[in-house]
Amino acid sequence: MPAISASAPGKIILFGEHAVVYGRPAIAVPVQHVQAKAIISAEPHAPQGRVRIQAAQIGLDAFLDDLPAEHPLAMAVRGTLADLDISRSPACTIRITSTIPIAAGMGSGAAVSVALLRAFSTFLGHPLSNERIAALAYEVEKIYHGTPSGIDNTVITYTMPVYFVRGQPIETFRVRAPFTIVIGDTGISSPTAIAVGDVRRAWQEQPARYDSLFDAIGAIARRARSLIEGGQPEALGALMEENQALLVDIGVSCPELDRLLEAAKAAGALGAKLSGGGRGGNMIALVQPGSAAQVVGALELAGAVRTLVTEVRP
Ligand code: PMV
Repeated sequence: MPAISASAPGKIILFGEHAVVYGRPAIAVPVQHVQAKAIISAEPHAPQGRVRIQAAQIGLDAFLDDLPAEHPLAMAVRGTLADLDISRSPACTIRITSTIPIAAGMGSGAAVSVALLRAFSTFLGHPLSNERIAALAYEVEKIYHGTPSGIDNTVITYTMPVYFVRGQPIETFRVRAPFTIVIGDTGISSPTAIAVGDVRRAWQEQPARYDSLFDAIGAIARRARSLIEGGQPEALGALMEENQALLVDIGVSCPELDRLLEAAKAAGALGAKLSGGGRGGNMIALVQPGSAAQVVGALELAGAVRTLVTEVRP
C-alpha cells in the first residue's frame, strides 16, 4: 500500500484577533507558502494497533500507546479512531513535517492537526468531512490555546478566506480584487494561550473597557469585509492601523513587533499590524505589489528572522 499524505496551510488573521474569542467577527486567510504535512505508511509486519508517530522538528519518535491523553498528536490520532468507531488501527508510521513557524501566530498547531486528521482518516479508509476535521482540530486547539475561538482550525481546514464569528457556521466571502501582504516574523516565540489568558484576566478586571475595545475591533473587521468585497483593498491599510492601536490598548503588542511595524510603514507599506496572539510572532503589512521587495528588505534590517510575501486572491 503506497504511503498516504495530506497537507494543510498556515494562516494569518487580517483583522479581529483576541476580540474574536469574545464573539466579535474576525477575518483570516490561508497562507499556502507554508504547509504542515502528515505522511502515513502501513507497517504490514508490525502487530495491529501499533502506531508510531515521528515529528523530527519537535524531537518526537514514540508509539501512540506511550503518549499521554493530552498530547496533541496523540489526541488527533485517537480522536480520528473514536470518530470512526475503530478500536484498533492497522499498524502504521505517521511522519509529521511542517514549514510553518511554531508559536508565531500562523496556525502551526492547527495545521498539523488538520493534515494528520485528513491523512489518518484516509489511511483508515474513511476520509473525514471538512466539518468533522474542523471540529476535531478544535478539540486539539484547546490544548494549545486554552479557550480558542475556532478561527485557526476553520480557515486552515477550508483553505479559503473566512469571516469568522465564534459558534456560527463558517462564512466565506468574495475577494473582489487581489492584494499583497508581507509577513514579518519577530522570531519571538509567543504561546497564544499565555496572551489569551492575560487578556482574559484583564477583561475580568475591567470588563466595560475591554468590551468596548472588542466592539471597536469587531466593527473594523466588518468594515474590512465590505472593503474586500467591494474591491477597495488599498483602504485596508488605514483599518490595519486602527486595529493595531486597539491591540496595543489591549496589551498584546511588544517593542519588537512595534519596530517591525514602523519599519514596514517607513518603507512604503499602506498599513501594518500584528497578526495572531501577539507579544511576538508575526506582523503583517499591506503593500502595493511593487513595493513588497522594499518592505521585505526593511523588515530584515529591522530584525525580522523570516519574511513571506503572500497575495490574497479572488
Ligand atoms: O494562533 P494565533 O496566535 O494566530 O492566535 C489566534 C488568535 C486569537 O484570537 C488570539 C486566539 C483565538 O483563539 O482566536
